[in-house]
Amino acid sequence: MQNLVVVGLQWGDEGKGKLVDYLSESFDIVARFQGGSNAGHTVKVGDNIYKFRIMPTGAIRGKKSVIGNGVVLDPSVLLDEITNLKAAGVKPDLLISDRAHLITPLQIEIDVLQESEKGDRKVGTTKRGIGPTYSDKASRISVRSCDLMDPSDSPQLDQLEKILSTRIERLYEYELDNSTQETFASFRSKALLLKKYIGDVGEYLHSEIENGKTILFEGAQGSLLDIDHGTYPFVTSSSCVSAAASSGTGVSPFQIGDVLGICKAYITRVGTGPFPTELSDDVGERIRKQGKEFGTVTGRPRRCGWLDLVALRYAVRINGAKFLAVTKNDVLNGINPLKVCVAYNFHGEEITTIPASATAYGEVIPIYEELIGWSDFQIGPEDVYDDLPGSLREYISYIENFAKSRVGILSVGPDRTDTIQVPGTPFEKFTNA
Ligand code: GDP
Ligand code: IMO
Ligand code: MG
Repeated sequence: MQNLVVVGLQWGDEGKGKLVDYLSESFDIVARFQGGSNAGHTVKVGDNIYKFRIMPTGAIRGKKSVIGNGVVLDPSVLLDEITNLKAAGVKPDLLISDRAHLITPLQIEIDVLQESEKGDRKVGTTKRGIGPTYSDKASRISVRSCDLMDPSDSPQLDQLEKILSTRIERLYEYELDNSTQETFASFRSKALLLKKYIGDVGEYLHSEIENGKTILFEGAQGSLLDIDHGTYPFVTSSSCVSAAASSGTGVSPFQIGDVLGICKAYITRVGTGPFPTELSDDVGERIRKQGKEFGTVTGRPRRCGWLDLVALRYAVRINGAKFLAVTKNDVLNGINPLKVCVAYNFHGEEITTIPASATAYGEVIPIYEELIGWSDFQIGPEDVYDDLPGSLREYISYIENFAKSRVGILSVGPDRTDTIQVPGTPFEKFTNA
C-alpha cells in the first residue's frame, strides 16, 4: 500500500492508536502531523499496554517515528515517553521537525487561566497548553525546536518569556510560583536533550518517498474537534483533518495517499460542547462501562451517545475518507435495538447538515433509525468477517451506504489481534501478527 492518512472522524478517541499500531507493520515511517500531548493513544499488545501522547504509535514496531512541523511539542512529555518506551524495551528511532513549535510551562499556565476566565463557556481543555501555543504560533511569538539549538542564545525564547510573564501577571493578575527565569532555564535544558532528534522533516520525507519508502500519517483528535470544521468554539486549536497531513509535515497533498477514517460504532466526547445524540440514561452508562470510556490523558468520563451518521457523513466528506475502520463493535453487544441518527430536527425543520453555530447545534434534536443489535458476539483470533453476527454486518453496511465510504476494517476488542479485515478492500491482506 502507498502512503495512508489515518484520521479520527468523531470527537477523538476513536481508536486511532490501535489502528495505527495494527497498520504500521506494513509501512516504513509513521508520522504525527498535528496536535500535541492533548492526544492519548492506547495500544494493547497481549499483556502490554502502551499509552502515547506525542510519540507516533509505530514506535512499538520499531518504525521510523516522525514528529512533523504541525505538532506542538512539550519537551518534558516527550522525554518521559522516550524513557518509558526504553524501559519497556522499545528504542525509538525518532526525527522531530526543526519547525515544530514548543509548548512552554507558561503556555500551560495560560491554558488553565483562560479556561477559568471562560466560566460557563469553558471548552474543558486537557490543560496541556495546546490553545495558547497555537495562538502564539499564529501571533509569531512562539519558539520552534530550531530556536533552541544554541544553548547560550535564543532571542525568540527570551522574547516569549518576557511577553508571557507580563501577560500572566498583568492580564490575569496571577503570581507565578517559581521565577519565570528558573522555569525557562529548566525548559531550555530539557528541550536541548532532544537536540539529537531534530532535523528537516520535509526534506527527509521527500527523499524517503523518492526511495520508495511508505508513510503512515497518524492523526490526533477528531474532525469534529477541528479548528475550522469542528463544533467551534468547543474544539481543539489544530487542524485535525486529512489535509493537515500535508501542511503538518511538508509532504505535498498529492503524495499523502488515501484516507482511512476511524469511527466508533457509537460516539463519545470529552469536554464541553454540543452533542445531539448524547445518552444520559442507563444505555449511556452501559456503553461507558463496557467501553471503558474514560479519558487516557485526564481520566475524565467520556460522554457517550448513539452513532451520529449525519456527523459521520460530514466527516467523511471533509477528509475524503475513502475507507472507514469501525471500532468498539464488541461494546454494543447485547444492546437491542440500536439507534443511529439520520437527520436532525431544527426548530421543526428536518436538516441533514451540521449548523455552523454551536448554539444552533445544541438545539437540534436527533431523528433516529432503529437497527437490530447483536448479542452472540464470540470472536476469536482465527475468526473472519463472515463469522461476525449477521446483524453487525448489516449495521456496517448501513453505515457504508449512509456515509458513502467503504468499511475496510472492524475492531472487535482493544488488542492488536482483535481486528477483522473486510474482504474485497485493500485491507484484506493485512494480518493480525
Ligand atoms: P485514540 O485517541 O483514537 O487513539 O483512542 P484512545 O486510545 O484514546 O481510546 C480508545 C480506547 O479503546 C483505548 O483504550 C483502546 O485500547 C480501546 N479500543 C480500541 N479499539 C477497541 C475495540 O474495538 N473494542 C474495545 N473494547 N476497545 C477498543
Ligand atoms: P485523541 O488524539 C478526545 C478535546 C478536549 C477539549 C477540546 C480542547 O486522543 O483522540 P485542548 O486541550 O486540545 O485545547 O482541548 O478537545 N480533546 C480531545 N478529546 N481525544 C483527544 O485526542 C482530544 N484532544 C483534545 O477534551 O474538549
Ligand atoms: Mg485518545
